[in-house]
Amino acid sequence: MSIGILTSGGDAPGLNAVIRAVVFSGTQIHDLDFLGVRYGWKGLVENDIRPLVRHDIMGISKQGGTILGTSRTNPFEHGGVERVREVMAANNMDALIAIGGEGTLAAAKRLSDQGLPIVGVPKTVDNDLDATDYTFGFDTAVQIATEAMDRLRTTGDSHQRCMVAEVMGRYVGWIALHSGVAAGAHAILIPERKTSIDQICEWVTKAKDRGRAPLVAVAEGFLLDTMTDAHSARGLDAFGRPRLGGIGELLAPMIEERTGIETRATTLGHIQRGGTPTAYDRVLATRLGWGALKMVLEERWGYMVALRGTEIVDVPFEAALGSLKVVPQERYEEVMALFG
Ligand code: F6P
Repeated sequence: MSIGILTSGGDAPGLNAVIRAVVFSGTQIHDLDFLGVRYGWKGLVENDIRPLVRHDIMGISKQGGTILGTSRTNPFEHGGVERVREVMAANNMDALIAIGGEGTLAAAKRLSDQGLPIVGVPKTVDNDLDATDYTFGFDTAVQIATEAMDRLRTTGDSHQRCMVAEVMGRYVGWIALHSGVAAGAHAILIPERKTSIDQICEWVTKAKDRGRAPLVAVAEGFLLDTMTDAHSARGLDAFGRPRLGGIGELLAPMIEERTGIETRATTLGHIQRGGTPTAYDRVLATRLGWGALKMVLEERWGYMVALRGTEIVDVPFEAALGSLKVVPQERYEEVMALFG
């Protein structure tokens, strides 16, 4: 049996650990062959595919990024199911493991609905897929963001400035919430909760009045109560979604002007997605990889692996897609009570 593997969408620390787990276990225990598809769906529609052997995956769990490369290519804009079927057949590919976020898994679902043998592995640093309790990459992103905020606090303290730290989180505020709590932020702003600039300034002023240098953690998808869309000044991505980033820079002068407190903004951006995955993410990614291989062996096409509590489970694509794992209001409010 020959199994293709692709990684698609934004990269996340832990992708290589999934690839390693699948190939290591598949070659050593099950005597399977693997094909590495380059740059996500792009490699599948362009037939950019090469054998993936044990040698290729040696020691890669600790490497960030993906040895296969990734892209935000939508296969349905490049020949769709006919082209994917044709390329799989030309390479004698009996099954495909697609590792990616919502866009990738939605494409995988459409292809598997039309009879292609595909299973999925969820991936997103934003941790916004409702079907799984955690995705690998999230823990690493939170760790990086927390460390960055710790650093911002020491320089903020030295200058008695307000520091605004912008983290990723397109639709959900999990990275902001977790890193903000870990770093002791005085305000945490998430996409799920529109907030007024007056409220933000009240928290900032309260922290300053207590002798603290205020730290504001903000997710890229946060909206002020006066905004109808998340701040975007960088055009659209391949799926037509606005490229986010810059809300921190927008807020900083507003805070400074209203409070009189000198304010600086830092956007962490892709630093959160790069570099070494945490041990937690490596282990989670490895277990999801083993789960995906098991699904292939059981021919459970149209399913993806997920983490429920501490167990790895199978979830049909249709149950996995369409609903975001947002920060529940009560989770936010228990943190919000301590802002300022
Ligand atoms: O979907 C994960 C994510 O990191 C979002 O938080 C962010 O908006 C987006 O990807 C950035 O995408 P790109 O790498 O294409 O700039």
